[in-house]
Amino acid sequence: MDQEVRVSPVTRETMGHAVALLERFFSEEGFATPPPLIAANLQAMVDDETCWAGLADAGGDFVGVVTVTTMLYVEWGRLGEIGDLYVLPAHRRRGVAHALSQAALAWCRARGCSAASVVITPDGEQRHNLARFYAGLGFERTGRTIMTRRI
Ligand SMILES: CC(C)(COP(=O)(O)OP(=O)(O)OC[C@H]1O[C@@H](n2cnc3c(N)ncnc32)[C@H](O)[C@@H]1OP(=O)(O)O)[C@@H](O)C(=O)NCCC(=O)NCCS
Repeated sequence: MDQEVRVSPVTRETMGHAVALLERFFSEEGFATPPPLIAANLQAMVDDETCWAGLADAGGDFVGVVTVTTMLYVEWGRLGEIGDLYVLPAHRRRGVAHALSQAALAWCRARGCSAASVVITPDGEQRHNLARFYAGLGFERTGRTIMTRRI
């Protein structure tokens, strides 16, 4: 039987668990951000009221993490974006990511967002079938292209 999953906001007390999960995520998926920067950036997000981070706990163990950022746009008013979503491999396919995403969307709604988006990398899609996962949560493809450069 699946264990009950509880999602709670990342706090000063649980920050270390969230950072450890994000470090595993970045290392497993090949993102270059170094661990000290992961910790500093997460701390800045937790201290900023336009962002949110949540931890999933199953049977007393922290098994997953989600982060959300919001920004203001003429098109959307406030738009949320799921930035990071990670579940420990041994705890996958039991609805943990679903619970984390629903908690993130609930926070976005309460924060006044009119919509939420997520960016799927080609690697993430290939390895984890992310478009199907997010479609199950009601996300739709936009056909838009995201372009990024360093400042
Ligand atoms: C993507 C990821 C977060 C999904 O985590 P997860 O906890 O396994 O996700 P869920 O269990 O909520 O859902 C995954 C699938 O399991 C299915 N599932 C959920 N509960 C289930 C259960 N009890 N039994 C069997 N399958 C189940 C879901 O329907 C879903 O299927 P779908 O992909 O066809 O929609 C996880 O694979 C991961 O951490 N990947 C690496 C990081 C990553 O790529 N993150 C995305 C960044 S945008």
